[in-house]
Amino acid sequence: MAKDQKLMEKIVSLCKRRGFVFPGSEIYGGIAGIYDLGPLGVELANNIKREWWRKIVQERDDVVGLDSSILMNPSVWHASGHTESFADPLVECKNCHSRFREDILPKSKNCPTCGKNDWTEPRMFNLMFKTHIGPVEDQASETYLRPETAQGIFVNFSNILDTMRVKLPFGIAQIGKGFRNEIITGNFLFRVREFEMMELEYFTFPSQAEKDFEYWQKERMDWYLSLGLKKENLRFREHEDTERAHYAVRSVDIEYNWPFMDWGELEGIANRADYDLKSHSKGSGKDLSYFDEETKEKITPYVVEPSVGVGRIVLALLIDGYNEDKERTVLKLHPFLAPYKVAVFPLLANKPDLVKKARSIYEDLKTKISGLVAWDDRGNIGKRYYSQDEIGTPWCITVDFQTLEDDTVTIRDRDTTKQTRVKVEKILSNLT
Ligand code: GAP
Repeated sequence: MAKDQKLMEKIVSLCKRRGFVFPGSEIYGGIAGIYDLGPLGVELANNIKREWWRKIVQERDDVVGLDSSILMNPSVWHASGHTESFADPLVECKNCHSRFREDILPKSKNCPTCGKNDWTEPRMFNLMFKTHIGPVEDQASETYLRPETAQGIFVNFSNILDTMRVKLPFGIAQIGKGFRNEIITGNFLFRVREFEMMELEYFTFPSQAEKDFEYWQKERMDWYLSLGLKKENLRFREHEDTERAHYAVRSVDIEYNWPFMDWGELEGIANRADYDLKSHSKGSGKDLSYFDEETKEKITPYVVEPSVGVGRIVLALLIDGYNEDKERTVLKLHPFLAPYKVAVFPLLANKPDLVKKARSIYEDLKTKISGLVAWDDRGNIGKRYYSQDEIGTPWCITVDFQTLEDDTVTIRDRDTTKQTRVKVEKILSNLT
């Protein structure tokens, strides 16, 4: 039973009602584990990605970006070990024939559908989606939708070395879609079959990998705190030997205190050692080593990898920011993440002077603010405030009769509901 099923129901409903997240292919009855981001969801996701890219790539001297393709030569997946090992243990209930992942069954081991405890032997089920390249559907044309973006980075390792004058330690970062044919999807955006990933492969000296692993844990935790996630809802958890992915020698998750389960993975940080570069050197026959100018030796770098799904961050922010009091629902999103940065209202929609002035402020802000500006002239002002609170708009500007006299507006703060009167020319400097 979920810890706080009601909260999740409210969030799913808010997401649908206000245009954050829609079920995929909804008019055809949906498709399991697939969601579409609506107009507000895409803004929130883009803001998260922009912050990640700024922090991981643009503010650093030692990380470069990449955008590799989703479809790759199938040899990539054989060499990387994914065709053999990227699999989960599948069991089937002998009573009701529901299928589940054996490793995430409830502690009782009873079937979540019928309650019986009578399972088939587990068999490993590969999570990669198969597809074909070209018109002939035979084994030779078979390939996969990537289940992680990381392999696109490893196969471009030499291209980056040759073109970017990078020196160890350095990272390659990318954001892109990943696909996994999960046995069981659920908990809204938490476990889906198509999702966007933000991955950094940080190449380093083997002797330095452990230190860099510790460094990236702290960096990543600090980043989540900078997004405004509550400290008490975040923690680290080291993986047991038995649960690590086939490529990792060490893994630590940043976990979030989800309402639908006990703590669970938000982001994974892995020490992949030299597994991938060595596997692709062997698979492709190309030398993927690094020449160390200082020691004049060739080495195969180790890789530290922080990796996260954008949808999990969206979900954590919605859960963390969701607040209800007697009168209103407030989504406390950090201003740099909120879909709308600010909303502009004329006090009354039937007063042309107010509308004209409000419209000119709205048009002006759109050119000066990075992000969306909302316009609302429906209903009463209180309802407009509540409507913006629910989608996390940090500030609402109201143009009233006093504006026409002294060129001032009120700015209302989402979290405190306090209103301050400021000169129109000072609006921007007050939105912080
Ligand atoms: N390249 C490393 C890697 O793929 P992972 O732990 O399997 O590692 C990375 O996945 C992140 O992707 C997870 O921490 C999680 O945020 C997200 N993720 C993984 N599977 C997901 C799924 N089925 N639905 C949504 N997000 C998922």
